[in-house]
Amino acid sequence: MPLSDSDEMPRHVAIIMDGNGRWAQMRGRPRLVGHHAGARRVKDIVRACPDLGVKYLTIFAFSTENWKRTQTEVAGLMSLFKRYIRRESQTLYEEGVRVRFIGDRVRLEPNLVDLMDNLELLTAGNDRVHLTIAINYGGRDEVARATRRLAQDVAAGRLAPADVTDETLPKYLDTCFLPDPDLVIRTSGEARISNFLLWQSAYAEYEFIDTLWPDFTEEEFATVLGRFATRERRFGAVPV
Ligand code: IPE
Ligand code: IPE
Ligand code: MG
Repeated sequence: MPLSDSDEMPRHVAIIMDGNGRWAQMRGRPRLVGHHAGARRVKDIVRACPDLGVKYLTIFAFSTENWKRTQTEVAGLMSLFKRYIRRESQTLYEEGVRVRFIGDRVRLEPNLVDLMDNLELLTAGNDRVHLTIAINYGGRDEVARATRRLAQDVAAGRLAPADVTDETLPKYLDTCFLPDPDLVIRTSGEARISNFLLWQSAYAEYEFIDTLWPDFTEEEFATVLGRFATRERRFGAVPV
């Protein structure tokens, strides 16, 4: 039976793509070489999604904390994002991928933001795979920005304090268009979530795997998804 026929496959997979720097260092190369190798992996993983039954893929590309890195690395990553969007837009469009970005755009260069906006517009009619790319994203920052907008609505009388619930608050999050992730994968052996999708992952399953992101293949992706299918999700209830 093809994997995509199973009801048990995760519909929304989120990935913390970690280990690019170590991958490059192991080869005696600058960290940016690892980031470029990592970007190439993204293409294959996105392409593998439809056959694996993954409708939503969300990837962590740059965190609100990653500004603490050297100016060279940060600038190199921003150039890489621009290059990736320029080079991949047409293919993503043709392959039916709908691309959206989450994170705070205010701190990003205007020409990067323009490319992001254009790619969102270009692919707005697509529905085969929904790819969400997190750039300058932090879960705490997202909740703070959401709360700020929510407070503005309350102050303006558009929302009653009693209507602030766990159903209304997520409508203010960057991810308002996404279902919650079923599975969060982190590569590179670190077992932490580093401020990724804090609210949304309340009941996600987690897979921490040792492979460095530039070595992560479609085959390993399929294996990890297969393990997910064997897990029992209880959501706080007692299984009957
Ligand atoms: C993840 O790889 C990519 C980004 C955070 C931008 P790292 O750059 O964190 O790689 P390691 O963890 O140093 O190996
Ligand atoms: C998380 O990785 C952010 C991304 C993958 C974009 P980091 O490498 O920045 O996280 P820490 O510093 O190890 O927690
Ligand atoms: Mg890292």
